[in-house]
Amino acid sequence: MLAGSLPGPAVSTRVVAPTAATLALAAQRLRAGELVAFPTETVYGLGADAGNADAVRRIFAAKGRPSDHPVIVHLGDVGQVERWAREFPEGARRLASTFWPGPLTLILPRAAHVGDAVTGGQDNVGLRVPAHPVAKALLAAFAGLGGSGIAAPSANRFGHVSPTTAQHVEDDLGEAVAMILDGGACAVGIESTIVAFTDSSPVLLRPGGIGVAELARVLGCAPATPGADAPRASGTLASHYAPRAPVRLVAPQVLLQEIRRHAALGEPVAVLARTVVRPAGFGGKWIEAPADAPSYARDLYANLRALDVPDIAAMLIEAVPEDDAWLAVRDRLARAAHYRDG
Ligand code: TXA
Ligand code: MG
Repeated sequence: MLAGSLPGPAVSTRVVAPTAATLALAAQRLRAGELVAFPTETVYGLGADAGNADAVRRIFAAKGRPSDHPVIVHLGDVGQVERWAREFPEGARRLASTFWPGPLTLILPRAAHVGDAVTGGQDNVGLRVPAHPVAKALLAAFAGLGGSGIAAPSANRFGHVSPTTAQHVEDDLGEAVAMILDGGACAVGIESTIVAFTDSSPVLLRPGGIGVAELARVLGCAPATPGADAPRASGTLASHYAPRAPVRLVAPQVLLQEIRRHAALGEPVAVLARTVVRPAGFGGKWIEAPADAPSYARDLYANLRALDVPDIAAMLIEAVPEDDAWLAVRDRLARAAHYRDG
């Protein structure tokens, strides 16, 4: 520190820049059964050695997540799938060869050795080959120590929005995690698309970074959407991905009217706008989100965190377009809004 300068905010020693040395240390910690948070192109993951049931159980304690929820196993390359899955159907292979490494998770029948801690006791396992260079480097260092998959849910407290920066992870999990590799802000910003191949035809369990049209192009038809007996996914709980403040989705043409109504009641609100222009005299927090779906998704969770200020009556979110390009964003916004409304 320069003489006379004031100390800045405390920087956690858990948050480290990825270097050959810190990646090697992170891989060692994983092999020792500790938790390491790392960036992926979608959101940050809270990693544990997928082959170590005690380590995987620590994830649930750190997140405050029910222990029967399955976690995704992250792999370095598609060649490792057969180690974790007993079947790798043709459609799943085609998706993997097109979209991996990338924001796609495949649910496949699990191999015999895959533990209940990873699968939540189900007969299938979620697998993903991430594209982020830090995730890839970590998986390579981990493989160098004899590890295979890294089990990792999003690195947030259960029910909170996923983290897209190292600081979000630190804010949510703090000392519950041994180390947080800082890879900057995530490029996709919302979680991977999940497609299950546990039935006769593929089922879309969660829309995400890969769009339905892209899946359909490779599969020859769009995947089905889940029925009541589909495998359980915690991201499909209605209350998931929720900020603390009550969230309401408001059509663009009535947003200004809603803001005026709250103002007349003396109620402070925060606004996530997209096309609507901030009215003169609005004193609350106002964020103008990007106009296109990929950029909107990239910034979404950081925006929800930034707007989640104490003592607001509501977070008003300008509704987004109804077309397929916005499917995953609409899914996450609906979940955020459902939290207090239902
Ligand atoms: O983009 C992502 O998918 C991020 C990054 C870190 O890879 N991960 C992520 O994990 O979002 P998580 O646990 O927050 O959400 C994964 C979802 C959960 O809803 C979980 O229930 C579901 O995937 N899932 C995992 N394994 C499954 C399985 N075997 N069967 C059904 N659903 C599964
Ligand atoms: Mg999650």
